[in-house]
Amino acid sequence: MNILVTGASKGIGRAIAENLKAVGQVHVTGRNEEALKSFDSAGYFVCDLANEDELIQLGEFIKENSIDVLVNNAGEYIYGGIDEVNLSDLNHIISVNLKAPIYLMNCVVPYMKSQRFGRIINIGSISGVMGEAHASLYSSTKAGLIGLSKAAGLELAEFGITVNTINPGWVDTELGKSSIEDSEFSEDEILECIPQRRFVKPEEVAGLVKYLISAEAKGITGQSINLCAGLSVGI
Ligand SMILES: NC(=O)c1ccc[n+]([C@@H]2O[C@H](COP(=O)([O-])OP(=O)(O)OC[C@H]3O[C@@H](n4cnc5c(N)ncnc54)[C@H](OP(=O)(O)O)[C@@H]3O)[C@@H](O)[C@H]2O)c1
Repeated sequence: MNILVTGASKGIGRAIAENLKAVGQVHVTGRNEEALKSFDSAGYFVCDLANEDELIQLGEFIKENSIDVLVNNAGEYIYGGIDEVNLSDLNHIISVNLKAPIYLMNCVVPYMKSQRFGRIINIGSISGVMGEAHASLYSSTKAGLIGLSKAAGLELAEFGITVNTINPGWVDTELGKSSIEDSEFSEDEILECIPQRRFVKPEEVAGLVKYLISAEAKGITGQSINLCAGLSVGI
C-alpha cells in the first residue's frame, strides 16, 4: 500500500506518518527538507502548498507513486477578526487548507478508481464544525473540507474509495500551542472548557487514521468525525 501524508515534517502529520509505516510505504511532504529527510520514508517531496507550481509538481509525484492512501493533513491557522481580513491572508489560507487538498484528491483519484480501492482522509478541525471566534478564515476552510469529503465520498463510493474528515479539538502540537498564545484565553481557561480537561495527543489522530484506512472501516465514508476530548458534545 502506497501512502502520502502532507504536512509530515512535524506535529500530527509526523505522528500519522510514523504510525502508518506499519501498514505501507509512507511518502511524506512539507516545506522543511531537513525534517522530511530525517524521517525514514519511502520517499519525500519538498513542497509549499501555497505555491501553485510546486503543488502541480507534487501532483506529478503522486501520479508517479501510485498512491492508494492520501492523508491531507497540512494546514495553517490565522488568528484575527473578520473585519481584519486581508486578501493576501485569505488567498494563502484557502490555497493551503482547501485548494491543495482538492487538487491532490484530483490527482490521486484516477489511480484509485483503476484499483477500485482508495482511502482519502482530510484533517479538518473542530473549528470547522463549531466555528471559532477570530478564526473565521481557518474555520471556513476546515468546514469546506467536511463538504468536500461528503461530496467526494458519495461520488467515489462505487469505486471502493472512502473519503472522510477527522476534526481534532485542541491537539498538543506547535500549531495548537501558537493558537493558544494567539487566543484571548489562557491554557488553563481552555482546559476548563474541554470535558476531558486535556489536549488530544497527535498519536490519537494517527490511530484513527490507521483505523479509517483498514479493511474494517470500508463502510465508513463521507463522514465527519470529531476527535476532540468531548469539546463538541451537545452541538
Ligand atoms: N494542533 C491543533 O490543535 C489542531 C486542531 C485541529 C486541527 N488541526 C489540524 O491538524 C493539521 C496538522 O496540524 P499540527 O497541529 O500538526 O500543525 P503543525 O505542528 O504546525 O504542523 C503543520 C504541518 O503542515 C505543514 N505545512 C504548513 N503549511 C504548509 C505549506 N504552506 N506547505 C506545505 N506544508 C505546510 C508543516 O510542514 P512544514 O513546516 O515543513 O512546511 C507541518 O508539517 C492541520 O491541518 C491543522 O489545521 C490541528
